[in-house]
Formats: sequence, C-alpha cells, structure tokens
Amino acid sequence: MRPRVKRQIMTGSRFNGSEDFVSNSNVVVPNDLSAFWMPFTANRQFKKAPRMFVAAKDMHYTTSDGRQVLDGTAGLWCVNAGHARPKIVEAIAKQAAELDYAPAFQMGHPKAFELANRIVDIAPKGLDHVLFTNSGSESVETALKVALAYHRVKGDGARSRLIGRERGYHGVNFGGISVGGIVTNRKMFGTLLTGVDHMPHTHNLSKNAFSKGLPEHGVDLADELERIVTLHDASTIAAVIVEPVAGSTGVLIPPAGYLKRLREITKKHGILLIFDEVITGFGRLGTPFGADYFGVTPDIMVTAKGLTNGVIPMGAVLVSSEIHDAFMDGPEHVIEFFHGYTYSGNPVASAAGLATLETYKDEDLLTRGAALAPVWQDALHSLKGEPHVIDIRNIGLVGAIELEPIAGSPTKRAFSAFLKCFEDGYLIRTTGDIIAMSPPLIISESQIGELIDGVRSALRSIA
Ligand SMILES: Cc1ncc(COP(=O)(O)O)c(C=O)c1O
Repeated sequence: MRPRVKRQIMTGSRFNGSEDFVSNSNVVVPNDLSAFWMPFTANRQFKKAPRMFVAAKDMHYTTSDGRQVLDGTAGLWCVNAGHARPKIVEAIAKQAAELDYAPAFQMGHPKAFELANRIVDIAPKGLDHVLFTNSGSESVETALKVALAYHRVKGDGARSRLIGRERGYHGVNFGGISVGGIVTNRKMFGTLLTGVDHMPHTHNLSKNAFSKGLPEHGVDLADELERIVTLHDASTIAAVIVEPVAGSTGVLIPPAGYLKRLREITKKHGILLIFDEVITGFGRLGTPFGADYFGVTPDIMVTAKGLTNGVIPMGAVLVSSEIHDAFMDGPEHVIEFFHGYTYSGNPVASAAGLATLETYKDEDLLTRGAALAPVWQDALHSLKGEPHVIDIRNIGLVGAIELEPIAGSPTKRAFSAFLKCFEDGYLIRTTGDIIAMSPPLIISESQIGELIDGVRSALRSIA
C-alpha cells in the first residue's frame, strides 16, 4: 500500500493553519486542498495561495477573507443574469422539494417540455427541437452525433467527416477536442476522432488589431472550406462546427461577412452547419443568440452555460425540424435516437432554466448588451496605449485585451494581470496572454468603468 500523503496545512496569509478555516463570512474552508485535482488550473500555484469565493450576489463575489470582487467574467461566461437571482434560487428550492428527479428515459416531467418550448420561442426561426444535456461539452458531443446519424438515417452515411477550426474550443470530450483547435487540449490524448479536418482561424493581428466590432479583413478565410471540400469531396463531409465568436481562445471575432459565407458554402454542399453558442448564447452579444447577431441560422445550435445562469449544469442542443423529422421513422415503439444522459432535462435544472429565461425576459437581458455595447467598447478601447497592450477587440458584452508576451515565458504576463486584478477586487479571465472579459449582463455603466480602471491599474503595475 502506498503511504498516505502527509496532510498539508495551508500557510497562506488568509489561512490560519488549523484544521479548518472559518472565513470572514462564517463559511468553513478546508485547510487541506490536496484531494481536489482542479480543472484547467495551475494546481500547485493555486494551493500555495488559494483564491476562494464563498458567496456571491448580483455583480460581486465575496472571498474567504471577506473582500468583494467585481465579476468581470460572469463566472465562466455563464452567470448572465448576475448572482443569486431570487427567482432562480426560489425555483430550484421549490423544485427539489416537489420532484427531485424523474427518469429521463421513457418517462417525462412537465418542466422539461415547458423549458424546451421556451427555448424554441427565443431561438432563431427554424430551430424547433431540443435535446437536453448537462454541459457545453456534452452538447457538442450530442450535436456531432446528431449530425452523423442524420446523414445516416437519410441514407447518406458516407458523410462522416467533421470539420472544425483552428483555435476553436468545443469542450473537453473526445469529439469536442477532435474538432477543436487548441493544441494543449489535444496533444496528450492520442489520435482522437478520425476523419476530422480544420479550417484556419480568423485572428489576424497585423491587419485587424484594435478593431471595434467585426474585423474588416478575412472574409476570404471562409473560402478555405471550399478547399477542404475539394480535398475530401462534399459527399464525405457531415458537418462544420464553429463558435460564432471563439471565446476560450481569446475572443476571436469573425471578420465581417465570414459566417454568412460559411453558411452559403455549407448549404451549397449539403453540409450541416453547427454553431457552438455555449458562450454567445443567451444575450452575450446583445441578441438572444449569435445566430441573431450575424443573421445566420445554423442547422444545429449548441448551448449551455447561460441557459441556467450557471446555477445548475445544463445544456441544450437545438435542431431543425428537417433533422428531427428524419429520425421519426420506423415502428413507433422503437427508440429513434440512441443517445441521452441520466440527467437530460433534470427537473431541478429545468426549473432553473425556466426561472433563468423568465429573469432574462423580466429585465430584457437578452438584448441589454446591445445598449451597453458602445459604453463597453469605449471603456475597453481606452486601454489602448497602456503597457503591453497589442490589441483590443470587442463585440456585444465581450472584450479582449491582448498583451505582448514576456519573451520566453508565454502566458505569464496575463496571469500576473489576473492575479493583480483579483488582489484589487476584479475578476478577469486570461487565456494565453489575452485578457478576456464578459461581465454579467446586469452590469452598470459605472461598474464597466470600475472594471476597466481595475485592469488599467493592473497593467501599469505588472512587469
Ligand atoms: C464554445 C464552447 N463550447 C463548449 C464549451 C464546454 O462547456 P463545458 O465546460 O460546460 O463542458 C465551452 C466552455 O467554455 C465553450 O466556450
């Protein structure tokens, strides 16, 4: 038997070295952080100097040492209505007491159907059916499987290739990392799915730096899809998946006209277009979905995050009637699509989703970003000329500040900015040497100013 690892007592200034630490807000924080292998986190760095949130309300988190931190990232791009919103909190508590769980297969409960209807109501016209999942990653896998199976049920099973894009992020499961284009997320995991190809990404600093809104240059990059179609032949390609705005690799905003061109090319060749709207969905761009912003309707739309305001894990994949109806064939007692999760349409998640959509509606949050976007844009671009800044870009309530990397230490500069901001009471997010921000859609104009000034001050103080 391996010897038990000696339990380590945390020694950071915010922790007192006893068994458990009671924070300023009376929340018990464990002193031993070794068991939890944290996701996408520098575990050793974190555990030496932990950053713990113990409460949240509206635009602010409370840290374990009792400080208020302004949320510049809506958690992880998901808390679009702000934190601890009463309708959502009440709906979850009520649902858990009334019907905690119902089997997802061959049984139903009303709220899942109601939520699917409400999602279809706000979705782009033509996306009329919803498959529920528990995360963005699961939504992506679901969408890819629907696409493959759709061609197969139509008798076109040779269409098995999937096309993604460099610097795309589609979650962490095997389908998602295969079509995704982030080397660190792919290189450790073998050969991934076969039959996948990638279009080039659209980020072009030399031509588009400091663009406000859609970059001017790069629509022709959509034509790379024609090159890929020529290489493989359209008859072998099932679907193309892209994020309307690539979020996780640093807010890569599509050049003007690019998504429309992708739609034209996919349609021409009978290839399904999948929009991964895990980030762009639910008001982030100032429209309900990215599809609305760009005036381009995909065949399949992948969502999660903002669907439940991040409170309960849930995702939804929307598909056209044409796709759905293709499966509704054969004997009626036979399952039409062999896919689903134990928690697809979970009652508590459904209740959270319904209350979230109501909150968005009550407060016009799905379009509020459009009104705030000019203020957001001006505030962000006021950082031009600050130390290390080589690009600023924005769309809706999303913004990115790209920093010149420290020679030989990529990512370090942006991470220092992140740490400094946290210390000063601002939550930002970094990816590589890019600072990405996507505040809750309830942010006020003065809070936008405060957040940007926090970033400005961090940029001035880091090396
Ligand atoms: C575009 C996109 N797709 C998929 C995902 C994966 O979502 P999850 O982390 O809920 O699995 C994310 C997460 O950030 C995302 O941004």
